[in-house]
Amino acid sequence: MKITVMGLGYIGLPTAITLAEAGFEVCGFDVNEKTIETLKGGHIHIVEPGLQEAFETAVAHGHLHFSAELSKSDVFYIAVPTPFYQDESGTHKADLRFVESAGRMAGKVLEPKNLVILESTVPPRTTEMLARVLSEESGIAMDELHVAHCPERVIPGNMMFELKNNDRIVGARTPEAAEMAAAIYEKVLEKGIVHKTDDLTAEMCKLTENTFRDVNIAYANELSVICDKMGIDVFELIRLANCHPRVNILTPGVGVGGHCIAVDPWFIYEQFPEEAKVIHASRVRNENKPRFVADKVVSSLAKVTDTVGVLGLSYKPDVDDLRESPSIELCHILQEKGVRVVACEPFAEASEVQGIPNVSFEQVMREADYLVITLGHSIFKNNKELISEKSYYDCVGMME
Ligand SMILES: NC(=O)c1ccc[n+]([C@@H]2O[C@H](COP(=O)([O-])OP(=O)(O)OC[C@H]3O[C@@H](n4cnc5c(N)ncnc54)[C@H](O)[C@@H]3O)[C@@H](O)[C@H]2O)c1
Repeated sequence: MKITVMGLGYIGLPTAITLAEAGFEVCGFDVNEKTIETLKGGHIHIVEPGLQEAFETAVAHGHLHFSAELSKSDVFYIAVPTPFYQDESGTHKADLRFVESAGRMAGKVLEPKNLVILESTVPPRTTEMLARVLSEESGIAMDELHVAHCPERVIPGNMMFELKNNDRIVGARTPEAAEMAAAIYEKVLEKGIVHKTDDLTAEMCKLTENTFRDVNIAYANELSVICDKMGIDVFELIRLANCHPRVNILTPGVGVGGHCIAVDPWFIYEQFPEEAKVIHASRVRNENKPRFVADKVVSSLAKVTDTVGVLGLSYKPDVDDLRESPSIELCHILQEKGVRVVACEPFAEASEVQGIPNVSFEQVMREADYLVITLGHSIFKNNKELISEKSYYDCVGMME
């Protein structure tokens, strides 16, 4: 069986490698020709533990190759971006152009017995839109197409394990598509179980999971602001509360970032603004956190000319992903307030990230008068003693 994976980013590339490891013949396709060139040259373009080794093995076994041209295939996986944008009125809306264009491309080479699996995280009824696009391009009637939505739920940093061990939701539009998709996932999975449902429930399931985390983190962030006013330690408070057998509060931080948790709640809110009150309030709470941290930092500086060193620009520890990162927003707010900022993001090679000077750990420790710990990257965790020699604001409880 030949499987084509469309979109070779953080999700598509590890997925393609895992499918090849399971014995399928896999073709990786991306519209970014530079990505294809890099992969053909034997290198991966993202940071993920174990990925380079798994990539080399899959390529050496001859099960994985890459192409900048889309050709016929038994199965098409779609793992393209689904960002959001704000329209003129400031309303957050899902940008589904990538899903639609991938659907149009696949539709041009689609044959009646093929299966299309949408792995991207999408708003309700996007799989139906994809099926319509595939039908328009291929001429195959919509109810004869085999289309499923199987949302990806892996966490960056542990993808190669989770791809094989997380349960999978197969949300199919027809019973045949459910069987075909389930058979593929069952071949890949070691411990994970396949759960079959319809496409709309699968779409909402993924959004529900990430929104649950956003709401929980908003609660933690709200507690951090309240604790600050009360003069008590929020990390100690949450640790104690979590001793209760039915309480599990997540960790506060500088906000919420990444391509998923900071985005997906908007996909529900966009379609249900009257009903999604808690979801909206949580999003706003998390979006306001960088400004709260910036105000705290400015009020803690000994003098306005002090240099603030920001430890971490990505959105979570030990990954290079900068998308929707609240640490970057924190730096921009500090800069707007006239503060000199130097950041240390060990996973970004550039000397400047979105207008923020990015220096080595040694240099940030030399230059900064005051530190903000936004992330527990390993290099910071391993240097707690050195960090504690300076004044700091710890957003994530790393120094506990
Ligand atoms: N990154 C994560 O941790 C994560 C986790 C779970 C789910 N997701 C979801 O998975 C989807 C993909 O996310 P990602 O992080 O891999 O994005 P990404 O930006 O890292 O990769 C997407 C890739 O798709 C390519 N692309 C765009 N249009 C294309 C087309 N028509 N045909 C082929 N390739 C095309 C881009 O060039 C890019 O390489 C999103 O919906 C995201 O929400 C991401």
